[in-house]
Amino acid sequence: MTNAPVSVSGSGSPGASAVAHLVRGPLVLTAATDEVGVVAARLVADHVRGHPTGVLGVATGASPLRLYAALAELRAEGLVTEGLTLAALDEYVGIDPGDERSYHSYVVRHIAGPLGIPESRVLVPRGGTQRDAERYEATLRDLGGVGLQVVGIGRNGHIGFNEPGSSRDSRTRVVALSDDTRAANARYFAGDADRVPSHAITQGIATILAASRIVMVASGAAKAWALDAALRGPVTADVPASFLRTHPSVTVVADDEALRPAS
Ligand code: F6R
Repeated sequence: MTNAPVSVSGSGSPGASAVAHLVRGPLVLTAATDEVGVVAARLVADHVRGHPTGVLGVATGASPLRLYAALAELRAEGLVTEGLTLAALDEYVGIDPGDERSYHSYVVRHIAGPLGIPESRVLVPRGGTQRDAERYEATLRDLGGVGLQVVGIGRNGHIGFNEPGSSRDSRTRVVALSDDTRAANARYFAGDADRVPSHAITQGIATILAASRIVMVASGAAKAWALDAALRGPVTADVPASFLRTHPSVTVVADDEALRPAS
């Protein structure tokens, strides 16, 4: 079954989201660019209040940085985050966890540290074999799965590192990164796409969709094509993010630039 998106323009209020969730389909909240993370953080905080020792699924990249900073601000105001376990979506193959460009480092630096979560409860897929991938799936399963999952969207429509062509049934596995993704991430590798690892280990689409709730953040015109295709185009492996429409509880928080229909 696929769900049509429901839009609530200019709203980040919990009241609006509660009403709109009575209608099936991704809820789309529009926010000013510098408010996208703040609105998304409120949604995450609502979930964390009910699941203070649960598993929070986290994306890396630029899109959710403001969300994590806003969560830390909410922690300073009393939100209890120290009991959470963090589970990342993906990691480069061949980059050591201690390397500052690793997603492990990102999660520790931008999320676990500010939220007071010990590194022992930071889970990031690691390695480059099918066995490594299966181990990560088993770890998530043993923890009872992810409660709320934060996702970004690649400009080619990927979620996690599930590049176009990824199947709805895919699980954690080692994947080749597309040229487009390597070009997009060159900024973290001295601007040189050739230095971006060629492979990554990523949760699959089915792994991501197993989360109880999903919050996507997106901003900027560079995401407009992907978001348009994901929300309004066919549900297809060509645009992996479109599979989010098969999940019953997805909220997209995005700015006007990202939500502008592609011409
Ligand atoms: C990161 C991830 C990716 C990013 C996407 C957008 O863990 O899984 O799917 O969310 O590439 O990246 P940014 O936010 O840097 O544009």
